[in-house]
Amino acid sequence: MRLQQKVAIITGGSGGIGQATVRRFLQEGATVAIVDYDEQALHQWATQLRTEHLESFETYVLDVSSLDHVQKVITQIAERFGTIDILVNNAGITQDAQLTKMTAEQFQHVLEVNTTGVFYCTQQVVPHMIAQQSGKIINTTSVSGVHGNFGQTNYAASKAAVIGMTETWAKELGRHNINVNAVAPGFTLTPMVKKMPDAVIEKMTKMIPLGRLGKPEDIANAYVFLASDEANYIHGHTLHVDGAIIM
Ligand code: NAI
Repeated sequence: MRLQQKVAIITGGSGGIGQATVRRFLQEGATVAIVDYDEQALHQWATQLRTEHLESFETYVLDVSSLDHVQKVITQIAERFGTIDILVNNAGITQDAQLTKMTAEQFQHVLEVNTTGVFYCTQQVVPHMIAQQSGKIINTTSVSGVHGNFGQTNYAASKAAVIGMTETWAKELGRHNINVNAVAPGFTLTPMVKKMPDAVIEKMTKMIPLGRLGKPEDIANAYVFLASDEANYIHGHTLHVDGAIIM
């Protein structure tokens, strides 16, 4: 019960890594605001959680790339729970294409969700954390944000920016006892990766010294650790959870 009495917001909470994270946070005693823009997936996920007798959560339909919407929903969450202790900025998308074929819309849309969405959510949550002089912010970058990846100009840029924001916020918010860190998943078996061609998945798997893709739970466990008191002196760090796909 490492997160007992903590209130956590998890964005993208009905996706692959998001679901594993919500489940682990609930098992560790947290109360969770599950945020996602896919209303149907949220509804199905909430039903599933109740069958597992995990009930300390509320769901919120939210597009993280809409500032008005983020302001409204974060205010609602703060009023409902009285505090926000943990923010996991996990929502993210891909729209892959090689540089010469990528449209301006593809480039901008991925940055709006993966980068601007993280900025909006964090900016709205941080005043609540400053008021209580404690908090944990965990951002989600990617092995592609650290090393780049074929066909991912937009995604790699959006995730590299997340590392820049993580390190900047660590410098700005440390004096308020707010830890800011990032997790960089490698290739993890979720709907995001399952839409890649089988041949690409097979090639990626061969590059991983541990010999397998990541499981959503591998990433969820890293989020739990960084959200817990055990990580109180870890700050401004990007934790690679990737089976050492690139060393
Ligand atoms: P996923 O596609 O299974 O889940 C993403 C979730 O984010 C979905 O539930 C989706 O509805 C939600 N979402 C998308 N746009 C949104 C928006 N505008 N507002 C609110 N919610 C939105 O993807 P997965 O794999 O679970 O990814 C989670 C995070 O991990 C993402 O940030 C992704 O970039 C990152 N990541 C994933 C890797 C992988 O191999 N699966 C590798 C590296 C990073």
